Amino acid sequence: MIKNRFNSLFWRIAAIFFILLVFIGLCFVFITVHYSGLYFEEINQRLNKNTAADIAAHSTPFTDGKVNKKAMEEMFDHVMSINPSLEVYLLDNGGKILSYYAPKKKVVLDKIDLLPVKKFIGTKGNEYVTGSDPHHVGLEKIFSVAPVTNNGTQAGYIYAVLAGEEYDAVSKSLTRNYLWQLGLRGMIITLLVTLLAGLIIIRFITRNFSRILEVMQKFRQGDLTARVEVKSAGDVKQVGDIFNEMADILTQNIEKLKEVEVLRRELIANVSHDLRTPISIIQGYIETLQMKNDTLTGEERKRYLDIISESTGKLEKLVSELFELSKLEANQVKPVKEPFFISELVNDISSKYQLIAKDKNIAITTFLSKELPPVFADVSLIERVMQNLIDNAMKFTPEGGSIIIKTNKHQDEVEITVADTGIGIPENEREQIFGRYYKANNFTDLKNSTGLGLAIIKKILDLHQSSLELVTEVNTGSAFIFRLPVYQNS
Ligand SMILES: Nc1ncnc2c1ncn2[C@@H]1O[C@H](COP(=O)(O)OP(=O)(O)O)[C@@H](O)[C@H]1O
Ligand SMILES: [Mg+2]
Repeated sequence: MIKNRFNSLFWRIAAIFFILLVFIGLCFVFITVHYSGLYFEEINQRLNKNTAADIAAHSTPFTDGKVNKKAMEEMFDHVMSINPSLEVYLLDNGGKILSYYAPKKKVVLDKIDLLPVKKFIGTKGNEYVTGSDPHHVGLEKIFSVAPVTNNGTQAGYIYAVLAGEEYDAVSKSLTRNYLWQLGLRGMIITLLVTLLAGLIIIRFITRNFSRILEVMQKFRQGDLTARVEVKSAGDVKQVGDIFNEMADILTQNIEKLKEVEVLRRELIANVSHDLRTPISIIQGYIETLQMKNDTLTGEERKRYLDIISESTGKLEKLVSELFELSKLEANQVKPVKEPFFISELVNDISSKYQLIAKDKNIAITTFLSKELPPVFADVSLIERVMQNLIDNAMKFTPEGGSIIIKTNKHQDEVEITVADTGIGIPENEREQIFGRYYKANNFTDLKNSTGLGLAIIKKILDLHQSSLELVTEVNTGSAFIFRLPVYQNS
């Protein structure tokens, strides 16, 4: 757990934040120290801009075109006793060093770059300029310079390095002691305050994240009710909300899958039950026929064979309807739509049923509205719908009843009604009968029932973007109504 904690987002961000702060702090100290150095140099140069001119005014470096060595030495002594940080050089007009005073270190340059010298004279020493340091090749230092004359013409320059070796030594130790300490102390104080404030803010932001993480872990471990609660608005809240939505969808899908699984089990149980009944009947009668073959009368044998044939028929019907429905449900059936006259189809089917209807003493009547336009649908699938509806009407209508088939035009559609004067459907069953495998509870003669007929009808009508309506009253009759689109010529 502790290892986890230090791995967490908070500690990572905190570590990065700390490193960044230290880095920025050090940069800041470096820059401050550097610019303070420049600042002091510039002050030094401004204050001492007239040094070279003063030295030139109070000495005579040249006599008759030659360097006056004695005068120079006196001057150097004098300068050194007043200001040991000064280094003074006598240059000719081309910048060549003619004579100098400089303590300790050796002079390595024999010529001074004249460009900064001219800039200094041009700006009267009011701008920050650095020039050659005769002690080091390539190093630049602040200086003061002034022209010197001999017999009225310019003979060279007095070049004074303002921050000489002495100055450097003192300045370095002071910088280390003072500027660096100041910078570092400032940095540490700023660092601590910023770090504290930063950590509090980061903690605040990452706290919500760790909460979300906890909930996600709970969810992963199987607690499907785990949901994130983030009160503050913003990105973190969005992450929480999205997780919650995903979790909702996931749990809903799991629920649905469970339901489907229950239905599937029920279906298998029902199907196997319905298959088993006719099979055992068939088996039983075949065994009887085999055992008592010699003793059976012709009439008995015919009766047994009739029963076997009926059960076989039922098996065949169940299997073929199951096959039909599963094909429809797997979207394997694509309707082949074409224009046809629904009245012709109704006439065909009703005349096929007349014989059975007569047997059962049921009247089939058709009311076909004249001059109906053709509909646009799959003929054979619509024939299945009609067959199933009339099958049901016949099955659930007692002897002496009647079945009425009507067609009507209804705006851009043709409406087909199959009505009967049968047993009707109780209110509590009206929704369920369209479901797969639902069979009547109030009807005892179920030997011809599979419970699949209406489910098949519904699927076929779905393929035609149509639906089945039901108007029914118990003990009075039922009417099933559906509509098909009129064929549009254009
Ligand atoms: N015309 C009808 N009159 C009364 N009940 C009906 C009618 N049509 C369907 N039903 C009810 O709906 C149930 C489901 O019908 P269906 O899916 O065609 O299955 P099946 O015809 O095999 O019983 C029937 O068992 C019956 O209870
Ligand atoms: Mg049926």
